[in-house]
Amino acid sequence: MERETWVSRDGFILAAIGSAVGLGNIWRFPWLTADNGGSAFLVAYLVAIFVVGIPGLMVSFVIGRRSKRNPVGAFRTLAGGTHWNILGGLCLVTSLVLLSFYTVVGGWVVRYVLESITGGYFHDPASHFSAIAFGMPAFFFQLVFLFITGAIVTVGVQRGIESTTRLLTPAIVVFLGGLAIWTWIRAPASPGYDFYLGFDGTYFTQNYLSVIGAASGQALFSLSIGSGTMITYASYLGEDRSLLADGSIIAIVNLGIGLLAGLVVFPLLFTVVGEPTGGGPGALFVSLAGAFGTLPGGRIIGVAFYLTVFFAALSSAISILEMPVAYFVDEHGLSRPTATAVLTALLVVTGGVNAFNESLFDFVAGPLVSQLLTLGLLGFMLYAAWVLGDESTAEFKAGAGPLSDLVATPWRLIVGTLLPLFLLLSILSTLASMV
Ligand code: PHE
Repeated sequence: MERETWVSRDGFILAAIGSAVGLGNIWRFPWLTADNGGSAFLVAYLVAIFVVGIPGLMVSFVIGRRSKRNPVGAFRTLAGGTHWNILGGLCLVTSLVLLSFYTVVGGWVVRYVLESITGGYFHDPASHFSAIAFGMPAFFFQLVFLFITGAIVTVGVQRGIESTTRLLTPAIVVFLGGLAIWTWIRAPASPGYDFYLGFDGTYFTQNYLSVIGAASGQALFSLSIGSGTMITYASYLGEDRSLLADGSIIAIVNLGIGLLAGLVVFPLLFTVVGEPTGGGPGALFVSLAGAFGTLPGGRIIGVAFYLTVFFAALSSAISILEMPVAYFVDEHGLSRPTATAVLTALLVVTGGVNAFNESLFDFVAGPLVSQLLTLGLLGFMLYAAWVLGDESTAEFKAGAGPLSDLVATPWRLIVGTLLPLFLLLSILSTLASMV
C-alpha cells in the first residue's frame, strides 16, 4: 500500500500546530509558571522556544523527511544497525508515557465540558475536583478520551488527522481570542495580569537552574519535540517545503496561542482566590472552575473554555498516538485499525495506572516527561549533526530559499555542539534539583 502524504501544505502546518497546541499551552504551562516564579518563567520559556525549540523542530523535520519513516524506522534505515537505533525505541517509550498521563487530563476535560452544562462543579470546585481527579471516575473519562483519539487515528492521515485538525486548530484560536476578551472585560484589574506579564527577576536569580530546566522542558513539550511526533508528521511531507519557514510558522503560532491562553487563565486564576492556589495540576479545574461558577455568564464561558481545551488536547493526543501507529504500520505491516486497537488496549493499562495513582501521575506528567523529551532531542541533534552530517544539511536546504543557506552554515556547531551541551546541562540540573 502506498504511504500517505499530507494533502496540502497548510494541512501539514495545521496538523503540526494542532499537535503543538494542547494541554501543554493551557494546562501544563500555568502550572509550571505558578511553580517557577510567574513572569520570570515566562521569559525563560520565550527564550527557550527560540533557542532550543525552533532548532529542535528543524532537526526533527530533517530526520522525518529524509527517512519518510516513523522514528523507529527512520533510525533503523538511516543509522543502519548502529546503536543509534536506540533512539527509535526511546521515542516509542516516550509516546506511551506521554499518552498515559495525557489521557487522564483529557478525561478531566471531557468531564468538565459536560459539567459546565450541568453546573456540577460550581458549588465547591476544590472538593469536587479531588473527588473525581483520580480513581474510577478519572479512569472512566480517560477511556472516553482515549477512544475518541483512537477513532480519529484509525481513519488515516488525510481523512482522519488532516481533516480533523483543519477544523480544530482554527476553532481553538477563535475561542481563545474570544475568551481573552471576555476575561479582560470581566476582570480588567486582576492581579493575574501582573503576575503573568510584569517581570520580577528575584525568583529567577535565586532558582535559575531549576527555572531554566523547567522552561526548556516545557518548550519541548509544547512544540511536541523529542518524542518523535514531529519526525512522524514530517515523514508525510514533500521535498518542496521550506523546513525553516514551516517550522518558524509553527513555533510562532504555538507561542502566540500559548500567550493568549495565559491571558485567559492567569487573570481568572487570581480573580476568585486573589492568589494563585499554587497552580498544581488541578489549577485549571479548581481555581478556574471557581471563576466560571461565580462570574456572570460563567456557565456558558465554562463550556466554551473546556471545549477549547478539549479540541487542543485531542489534536495533540492524535499526534502522539500517530507515532506508534505509524511504527506498527510501517515496520510490522499491521493495518492501521489493528495497530490503533493494539495500542489503545495497551494504553488502557498504562494510562489506567496513572489514573489510579496521583503521585505517580505528578511525577510522570512533570519531571519524567521533561527528561525523556530532553534526552530524545539531545539524541536527535547529535545524530543529525554527527551521523547524518552533510546529508542533514542538504535535507535542511531542500525546498528552502537563501535564508536557509545562511542558517545552514553554523548548523553543525549549533545543533551538534552548543545545544546538546545545553540539553545535557538541563537534564543534569533537573536531576540535581530533584535530589
Ligand atoms: N505539544 C503537546 C501539548 O502541548 C503535547 C505533546 C508533546 C504532543 C509531545 C506530542 C508530543 O499539549
